[in-house]
Amino acid sequence: MKRVLTGLKPTGDLTLGNYIGSIKLMKDLEGKYESYLFVADLHALTVPNDPVLLHERIKKFIGMYIACGIDPTKHVIYLQSENAYIPAISWLLECSTYYGEASRMIQFKEKSKQNANFTVGLLTYPVLMASDILYCDADLVPVGIDQKQHVELARDIADRFNKRFGEVFTLPDVYINEHGAKIYDLQDPTKKMSKTEENPKGVISLFDDPEVAKSKIMKATTDSLATIKYDPENQPGISNLLTIASSLSNEDIDSIVNKFEGKGYGDFKKYVAEIVGNFLTDIQSKYNDIINSNKVDEILDNGKEITTKLAKDKYEKLSKMMGVYR
Ligand code: TYM
Repeated sequence: MKRVLTGLKPTGDLTLGNYIGSIKLMKDLEGKYESYLFVADLHALTVPNDPVLLHERIKKFIGMYIACGIDPTKHVIYLQSENAYIPAISWLLECSTYYGEASRMIQFKEKSKQNANFTVGLLTYPVLMASDILYCDADLVPVGIDQKQHVELARDIADRFNKRFGEVFTLPDVYINEHGAKIYDLQDPTKKMSKTEENPKGVISLFDDPEVAKSKIMKATTDSLATIKYDPENQPGISNLLTIASSLSNEDIDSIVNKFEGKGYGDFKKYVAEIVGNFLTDIQSKYNDIINSNKVDEILDNGKEITTKLAKDKYEKLSKMMGVYR
C-alpha cells in the first residue's frame, strides 16, 4: 500500500486553514493509503516560542486531529521530536542540499526578513521537512499551497541522493486541495489565514468559542459588488467564504452559489457562520472527550514505536551508503 504523510507545527492553535488545507485531506484519504500524521514540534523551534506554551500545544494538536475525525486506528500518529532518527537523517540530507536551494525558499526569504536575528534552523527547516517525508518513503504529501515548494525541494533532494548514492528514497508527490489550498484571513482576504497572526479577528481557531467564530464570519471583509460569485481575483472575501462553507459542508461551490442567487451578503454570511459554528461545536465536544482520557498517550507510544523503527532502518541504510559506519 502506498504511503501518505503530513505534519503540522505547533506555533499557535490550529486554524480552520490548517483543517481545510491539511487535516481534512488526510481524513479524505483514510483507508486508501498507509497514513502517517505527526506534530512537527521540532519545526516550531525555528522561531521563538515559549517552551511552556509549546509543550501544552503538542497534546492539544493530537486531541484536535482526532476530534477532527482522524481515526487513530487508521493513521500512525506521532511526535517528530520523539523520533531521534529524523533529525539525524536531516543532517545526512543537509550535506546533500545546496545553500542556494535552501536560501531560495519563499518561506525562508519572508521569515528571515521579519527578524534580523533569524536562526540557522530557519534556513535548514525544509531539509528537516525532507527528512520527515523521506524517512518513511511517503508517496503523497497533502499540504496547503505555502508548503508546496518545500515538498518539491524534498523530491529534488531525494532524486539527487538516489542518483549519487543509489536508489534509496521514494520520490514524493505533493497533494493539494483544488479550492482550499489557501484559506485567507477574514479581515484581509489577500493574505493567508495564519496561526501566528496577531489580529485574531481574521483567524478562526479550532478552539474559538463557536459564537465568537460566527461573529468573525459576520464581520469578514467582502466587497461592494453585491453578488455571490466564486471569483478569487475580484471577490476574494466572498470566494474565501464560499471555499470555507463548501469544504465544511462538502457541498459544491456552484450549488452554494446557486442557492444564494439574488440574495444579499448578510444572508450568505449567516449561512456560512452557521456551518462554521456547528463544525466547531461538534469538534470541540469530541476534543473534550479525548483530551480527558489517556488515549493520547497510548496513540503516541504506538506512533513512536512504529516510526522509530522505520527511521532507524533508513538511517542505517543511508549511513552505509555514505560511508559513515563502523
Ligand atoms: P504549518 O503548521 O504551517 O501548517 C500545517 C498545514 O496547514 C496548511 N495551511 C493551510 N492550508 C490552507 N489555508 C491556510 N490558511 C493554511 N495555513 C496552513 C499548511 O500548508 C500545512 O500543510 N512545515 C510544515 C509542517 C511540516 C510538514 C512536514 C508538512 C513539517 N514537516 C512534512 C508536510 C510534510 C508547516 O509548517 O505547516
